Amino acid sequence: MSSRTSLWGGRFAGGPAEALARLSVSVQFDWRLAPYDLAGSRAHARVLAGAGLLDAGELGQILAALDDLEAACASGAFRPTVEDEDVHTALERGLLERLGTLGGKLRAGRSRNDQVATDLRLYLRDHARGVAASLVQLADALVEQAERHVDTPAPGMTHLQHAQPVTFGHWLLAHVQPLLRDLERLRDWDARAAISPLGAGALAGSSLPLDPVRVAKELGFDAPAANSMDAVADRDFVAEFLFITALVGVHLSRLGEEVVLWTSQEFGWAELDDGFATGSSIMPQKKNADIAELARGKAGRLIGGLVTVLTMLKGLPLTYDRDMQEDKEPVFDAVDTLELVLPALAGMISTMTVRVDRLVAAAPVGYTLATEVADWLVRKGVPFREAHEVTGRLVALCVARECALDEVSDEDLALVSSYLDPTVRDVLSVRSALAARITPGSTGPGPVADQLAAVVDKLDGW
Ligand code: ARG
Repeated sequence: MSSRTSLWGGRFAGGPAEALARLSVSVQFDWRLAPYDLAGSRAHARVLAGAGLLDAGELGQILAALDDLEAACASGAFRPTVEDEDVHTALERGLLERLGTLGGKLRAGRSRNDQVATDLRLYLRDHARGVAASLVQLADALVEQAERHVDTPAPGMTHLQHAQPVTFGHWLLAHVQPLLRDLERLRDWDARAAISPLGAGALAGSSLPLDPVRVAKELGFDAPAANSMDAVADRDFVAEFLFITALVGVHLSRLGEEVVLWTSQEFGWAELDDGFATGSSIMPQKKNADIAELARGKAGRLIGGLVTVLTMLKGLPLTYDRDMQEDKEPVFDAVDTLELVLPALAGMISTMTVRVDRLVAAAPVGYTLATEVADWLVRKGVPFREAHEVTGRLVALCVARECALDEVSDEDLALVSSYLDPTVRDVLSVRSALAARITPGSTGPGPVADQLAAVVDKLDGW
């Protein structure tokens, strides 16, 4: 890298060593900040003009050159070279090529420290909206399936053991709820990220009569930073964003894991559309849920990104340190990962065929109606502790007889406990167990329909 293109060559006798240049360069990944850097430059140019540091003619020329540079970046006519250290260096070169020495005026009152923090906030606020839209798309796909299965029974599980019957629609909506919280998290995050670092300069603010409030407004921020040192040292917005994407990754991973289970031979609850499943290079019969597995696997890199940035930040003295350049690849990777995974998952879910017959058959298996017997006894005034004991004995008898709960004879019922009589069979159907669950948020078809309506309402708001 020669001192000609460097932003800091003045006090150095020679150019940087090759090894330093190779370590230092970030343009290969931060180039995607170019549109945001250009937007910041436009706002800054106007403020310099407002401060009387650029005349109207100079402002016009600078804005025209920025427009031209933006078009050249978009078309690929202007590209960063190996000589450009980072996106800011490359774009200043582009401006100097267009304007000569006038291009050098734009740097007044601004440092790469407030510039890079601004660019990254702009980039993330923009892309958080894209991530939110893709989350909505996946939530919509789950909701669409849930609508079809408001009263399809399934064996609800804890510890991956059959527990109590639920409706499959309720189950699918249990994957939508975390996504709704993630959407809210992104919205909350945006409110805190909407702070403009511009005006902080390197760390101390500027002696020039800049207008950070105006710059903030022009770039869509709510306000300028309250403290110029914090403005350039703060990467909370990066860490928080990465926490949200890591948590999204965890949610997608849990959904992915369930789809892998549901589509296995052993469960056989769902079948994937051919377009959203993969085959094997050697076993011709195979149909694999690779999308679900990749969603599960990619949670690892999303969590890794959060850990990378928190670890990088933890010992840094205020204010800017070059370590902070390491914040970008993890967030870019998080955005790219979710922009790949979310549409694939949405397509996989919306085209998935649910095997209702298999679910209906599985719902009572494993004595999932045992709790109904215990509750029936409680309604008769038996203390739950005793009811649990009695029902346990009934289950043990069924296991010995290899029969279902509703297949026990009247004599055997009486044998297990004097509390039991044949009318207990009224509660021994999956359908009655589901229908009995009428409290808000529970799995009965009624509350599930209410939940669906509320979820659709929330999603409409995005
Ligand atoms: N490429 C740098 C980064 O990403 C830009 C800021 C550089 N500032 C500095 N004083 N060296 O953090």
